[in-house]
Amino acid sequence: MDIEGNKNMCGIFGCFLKNEKAAPVIHSSLKRLEYRGYDSVGIATLFDGAVFLKKGQGNIDEVHKSLDLDDLPGNIGIGHTRWATHGAPLQVNSHPHSDCTGKIAVVHNGIIENFNDLKLELQNLGHTFVSKTDTEVISHLIEEVMKSKPSFSFADAVQEATKRLEGSFAIAAISSHEPDKIICARNESPLVLGINDNTGDVYCASDITAFLLLTNRVVIINNGELVVLTAEGYLIKKIRDNSLIERVPEIFQWTAEMAVKQGYPHFMIKEIHEQPEVLRNTLRLQDHYLDLMSTFLDRATEIFLVACGTSYHACLAASYMFSKIAFLPTYPVYASEFIEQYGKSVNIDSTILAVSQSGETADTIAAVTCAQQRAATILSLTNAIGSTLTRISRVYIGTQAGPEIGVAATKTFISQLSVLAQLALRLAKKRGKVSQDEIDTTEEQLDKLPEIVNSIVKTQEDKAKQIAHKYAKSNIFFFLGRGISTATAFEGRLKLMEIAYIPSLAFPAGESKHGPISLIEHGIPVVFVCQKDDTYKTAISNIIEMKTRGAKILAIIEEDDDEVKALADDYLEVPKNIPGVLSPIPFTIPLQLLAYYMALEHNCNPDMPRNLAKSVTVK
Ligand code: AGP
Repeated sequence: MDIEGNKNMCGIFGCFLKNEKAAPVIHSSLKRLEYRGYDSVGIATLFDGAVFLKKGQGNIDEVHKSLDLDDLPGNIGIGHTRWATHGAPLQVNSHPHSDCTGKIAVVHNGIIENFNDLKLELQNLGHTFVSKTDTEVISHLIEEVMKSKPSFSFADAVQEATKRLEGSFAIAAISSHEPDKIICARNESPLVLGINDNTGDVYCASDITAFLLLTNRVVIINNGELVVLTAEGYLIKKIRDNSLIERVPEIFQWTAEMAVKQGYPHFMIKEIHEQPEVLRNTLRLQDHYLDLMSTFLDRATEIFLVACGTSYHACLAASYMFSKIAFLPTYPVYASEFIEQYGKSVNIDSTILAVSQSGETADTIAAVTCAQQRAATILSLTNAIGSTLTRISRVYIGTQAGPEIGVAATKTFISQLSVLAQLALRLAKKRGKVSQDEIDTTEEQLDKLPEIVNSIVKTQEDKAKQIAHKYAKSNIFFFLGRGISTATAFEGRLKLMEIAYIPSLAFPAGESKHGPISLIEHGIPVVFVCQKDDTYKTAISNIIEMKTRGAKILAIIEEDDDEVKALADDYLEVPKNIPGVLSPIPFTIPLQLLAYYMALEHNCNPDMPRNLAKSVTVK
């Protein structure tokens, strides 16, 4: 049984208990959801006709230590552990969020795309907002419906409010107006119920990890459904037409560890499968962040793209994107070399775009700090809002990938590429160097990438596993590409090295004849990332060069590429007609899968590769 799309962003939990206090159960359940987000946490309960609420910045243990999260009255409540997407991880931005009266409390996982419009509408109606989050509009929206339609029940008001929301949400709401129920609703972000027949208790949560130790009787809630949790149990309705839905609990024979991984054997493969949803999240970025950053880039005199490891490969790909469709020169630089290479020349006319999923990589922070001290403009992309990098950046954008538990970067890399491609498209529009038709086509394909990536994972995973098994005994791999595919080849090489510990080389295919080709012997696997773009013909000749020297050709190609299929020993395919500047996103997926299954062939733990840390906070 597969719970569709686990969008690691935040964790929500709610419970209606028969005979015990809700707060301690919410607290311990949030602890089990902490892998979904941990920069702030809060709980709200109902007791004696009132809402009681505690919340704070920091992880669950830190906030519990300072506020005592168990010390809240009542047997009904909701809770939230946050991974910031809108608004820094501050107490004021943590959930639950209240309405003006404090009689409604809401927790939310997802991204409300139209929150700015809704916020303005509600402010014009006199609502006062305290946070920078998208979530807070939900509590005020419910309040407004209850005010304007006094005959509505709390459940009706939540239902009416959710009809106004655009984007992804899994919410749980309580109110002192009707202090005997919890209302939940779902659109895209996951929501499940736990039904405890022994105690009569019922739970709602982002995933079953939260309550699996209490019950394994699970009801999966689907998109467009609303749930009413009461002392009698649960009621499911369609948001659209209020029709009732009968759904009996399923029994999940998962261990707690399996539940955290949503049934996947490792976080890395789970996160590879999450990439379609992550791409959808990156397409929900607020325009004004992208417009602001692209304006800075457009006006910049010189731009350095600074990062380490996989994030550097995103920068390398971005340099092709910015040049090809915006005619904007940018210079990717390893953060660990930046100070030596440009520390003396970077100046007030320089702009740094730093890319770091953790926002804490010491080399990147050091490079940015050096540039900042020389008056350069600092921009950044990071997956960790509130990280050091965000605090030293003039403008930053969160890449919306949710916490990445696997040490090897996968979904955060794909999200970085998507945001960089969106910046390149905005620059292309500003600078008018390519045709509107090319821009339109690229935008259309960008919007299709979630489905394209989903189809690649589904159609290529088994083949990648077979190829990994076939070449498991190879003790060296080459990864080659031309043009923007060079960045993809570099990333594929890093993945294989870091989780399967196989020595691998990567360089632009055009460099082969300048030395590396001397290494080629019979049977050495050479992975070619080979899109049918301007470099296709020269890539073919590189393939032939390698093949005639005995190399085994593993090609990552567009489907129906019969010419390369005829040359390759093995191949993995991605859909055709993807614009070159977007190609690293689909072409990387087969390489991630190849690396993952090669790690398993070598009995390596892909989630915790030796010698590596998720965030390299030492120089
Ligand atoms: C990538 O799989 C590795 N985990 C590593 O190269 C990583 O990309 C690098 O350390 C940079 O991390 P950052 O994005 O958090 O700055």
